[in-house]
Amino acid sequence: MSKVIIVGAGGVGRVVAFKCAQAKEVFTEIILASRTKEKCDNIAADIQRQYGLSIKTDQVDADHVEEVVRLFKKHEPQLVINVALPYQDLSIMDACLQQGVHYLDTANYEPPDEAKFEYSWQWAYQDRFKNAGLIAVLGCGFDPGVTGVFTCHAAKQHFDEIHYLDIVDCNAGDHGKPFATNFNPEINIREITQNGQYYENGNWIQTKPHEIGKVLNYPNIGPRQSYLIYHEELESLVKNFPSIKRARFWMTFGEEYLTHLRVIQNIGMASIEPIEYEGKKIIPLQFLKAVLPDPGDLGESYEGETSIGCRVKGLKDGLEKTYYIYNNCKHQDAFHETGTQAVSFTTGVPAMIGAKMVLTGKWSGAGVFNVEEFDPDPFLDDLKTYGLPWHELENVDLEFE
Ligand SMILES: NC(=O)c1ccc[n+]([C@@H]2O[C@H](COP(=O)([O-])OP(=O)(O)OC[C@H]3O[C@@H](n4cnc5c(N)ncnc54)[C@H](OP(=O)(O)O)[C@@H]3O)[C@@H](O)[C@H]2O)c1
Repeated sequence: MSKVIIVGAGGVGRVVAFKCAQAKEVFTEIILASRTKEKCDNIAADIQRQYGLSIKTDQVDADHVEEVVRLFKKHEPQLVINVALPYQDLSIMDACLQQGVHYLDTANYEPPDEAKFEYSWQWAYQDRFKNAGLIAVLGCGFDPGVTGVFTCHAAKQHFDEIHYLDIVDCNAGDHGKPFATNFNPEINIREITQNGQYYENGNWIQTKPHEIGKVLNYPNIGPRQSYLIYHEELESLVKNFPSIKRARFWMTFGEEYLTHLRVIQNIGMASIEPIEYEGKKIIPLQFLKAVLPDPGDLGESYEGETSIGCRVKGLKDGLEKTYYIYNNCKHQDAFHETGTQAVSFTTGVPAMIGAKMVLTGKWSGAGVFNVEEFDPDPFLDDLKTYGLPWHELENVDLEFE
């Protein structure tokens, strides 16, 4: 008997709620809570229609620890799946410590006034979670998330030493809109307008946004222009796999998308500095979010698929080898199953599986963990069961020197 609370009712929260409902033998009671309760009620009604299962809903502003504590006191969950925004990570973790609730999220904490990813804020909770006998699983979406599990699987089954890791993330979908982001626009635009950064021989090397680009070939998709960006899992992966000499992250962007992004930046709409507008302080990027399409609504017309994976080079039995592990996910399949597109789907499915790992004791411990610190095998089995089959290629051209 396991009670779970999901916080956040956006595209990802929808998928997590659907997937928990599919695993009702583990999640015997499901509560979906968010800032706007109406969104939770809509998802609950869809789950009732699709699975005949009733889930509870509630309202919470998770910026405030005492509100999350109130929510936990009322429902007494074993675990919270945090799929609100990265700004709420610390307040939800604080509430977990107060009420003895296990924690899982998909994105690392970011201070609202500074676009910066690093795990330091959440790793600083290590002793408090350990002393409380609680587990906090960080970054359990697709990237971060499955990419860490893929890397761990590569290290365990295919290599004695990993030397080079390139995480490749392609969205070859078309939603028919001139410009839209695939998850929360504010978080997404903060992420991709930052400087790029990669790890080489013990150092972090900074690049300008989208300065390094390369055409990469993705399975079942073909060639796509891909750009080196910084992504949070690089920080934990080089720490947990110290044999890595170089780790990079690549993401595809179309010309049209980058042109829109440049204009948005040039006219100041990507700024997170508050400005005065008609006697009120507003943040331009938050205003932009309000006028852009809701990522959760892109699903219906979305064609094409995503392909995300890890390209790895290293040593096995003294010989150099290459290895590529990836998943492809079709937007239309995701939409038909859960009513939202593949980017939300590929994030929500692993979040549910991570929660299932904790509640069934397959992932255990006390403290703060990144996903690559756990046994990848039961998680990888469940990925196939719950709609994200993965594939492996050995000794192939990784397209990197
Ligand atoms: N690891 C990965 O692979 C990956 C990939 C994509 C996204 N993500 C992460 O997944 C998370 C959700 O993304 P999304 O696309 O679903 O975002 P979204 O559509 O913007 O949904 C966010 C939800 O959180 C709620 N929320 C925001 N602030 C809140 C607060 N203070 N208290 C309670 N609820 C609050 C929002 O409520 P309102 O409806 O009231 O605004 C909304 O329901 C983000 O953290 C994102 O970074 C991870």
